[in-house]
Amino acid sequence: MSLTTFSFPTPTIFGPGAISQLVSRLPGLGLMRPLIVTDAGVAATDAFAQLAKVMGGTGQGKDWFVFSGVHPNPIEDDVREAANAYRQHKCDGVIAIGGGSPLDVGKAARLAVKRPALDFARFYEETDWSGLAPFVAIPTTAGTGSEVGRSSVVTLKSTHRKAVLFHPELLAKLVILDPQLTVGLPPHLTAATGADALTHCIESFTCPVFHPMCDGIALEGIRLIVEALPRACRNGTDLDARGRMLAAAAIGAVAFQKDLGVVHSLAHPLSSICGMHHGLANALCLPAGMKFCASRKPGIYRRVGIACGIDVMRSSEPEADQLTIHFITDFLARLGLNTRLRDHGVKPEHVDALVAQAVDDPCHKTNVVPVQAQDFVDLYLQLL
Ligand SMILES: [Fe+2]
Repeated sequence: MSLTTFSFPTPTIFGPGAISQLVSRLPGLGLMRPLIVTDAGVAATDAFAQLAKVMGGTGQGKDWFVFSGVHPNPIEDDVREAANAYRQHKCDGVIAIGGGSPLDVGKAARLAVKRPALDFARFYEETDWSGLAPFVAIPTTAGTGSEVGRSSVVTLKSTHRKAVLFHPELLAKLVILDPQLTVGLPPHLTAATGADALTHCIESFTCPVFHPMCDGIALEGIRLIVEALPRACRNGTDLDARGRMLAAAAIGAVAFQKDLGVVHSLAHPLSSICGMHHGLANALCLPAGMKFCASRKPGIYRRVGIACGIDVMRSSEPEADQLTIHFITDFLARLGLNTRLRDHGVKPEHVDALVAQAVDDPCHKTNVVPVQAQDFVDLYLQLL
């Protein structure tokens, strides 16, 4: 058995109104002049207004500043500009609020503050990760789980490819999971981001790395999503459903410290080449990815099926997989996540470039079964 690292370290305040606890926690984190990192869309939302309200109400000589220039798929310049704003305002820590993009930029900006001349294409050469400014993460979507992740994805200026900065020091010192901050998310984005969390749970559970703690919570994440995502889509103000989805998204991201699989390798190029939303790309690829894996390793989805609440205990291994995949396919379809890639601008002429990037993507290296270039060709053509 190979060595594995187990780590579930992020302090989290969960529940409706959790945002009200933020200010009282900041001094303990050494955070008296935070830079708030977000994007223009989030800056205009009620969620941001709730944050501004609790920050503005502190008085006591504290001060805070906003950088709202994060792009939907963050670029290197976003990180450098956030770091410039941090230095300009003499900040002492970062609070990021929003979806995965502002959270990723908030995490990485602390490294750019510490190392202004850092070459992001060679970040892995960084040997000293100590002394990063404290970081607080406040998600307004329930999908990526970036708030509990130790990585940050930014697009490099030199190559236009995505770099994944990865280090435990990037982790937040505090996470606020407040379902009231997600009620404004429209149904189609609630569904797509939730499908991302579902894919994290399923792919991390079936990833062959030995990590029984992650396996256990991944199954609970699946159970929560199956129960709560349809409710959150039907009624955006259902705080119980919104809260369960926030918990499930964080669970998914903690679980995927095990790693992911073929579905994420199919999805990443669909975003970088065709501009598809990450959650939507995962949703459209998930059933085909599951069928591919089950055809080569029967029985891997029985426990996923049990987590979904379906009766697969007495089924044969292929039957258990089939019933589970049918359930997931139908679940996604009922959320409107059953369109074809061509409905989102993907064309046959994109397939070569998609396959080239999918082969280079690291996620499938930990898929439950090996994936070859021809498998990616077959899967994309099936999904077109
Ligand atoms: Fe994802």
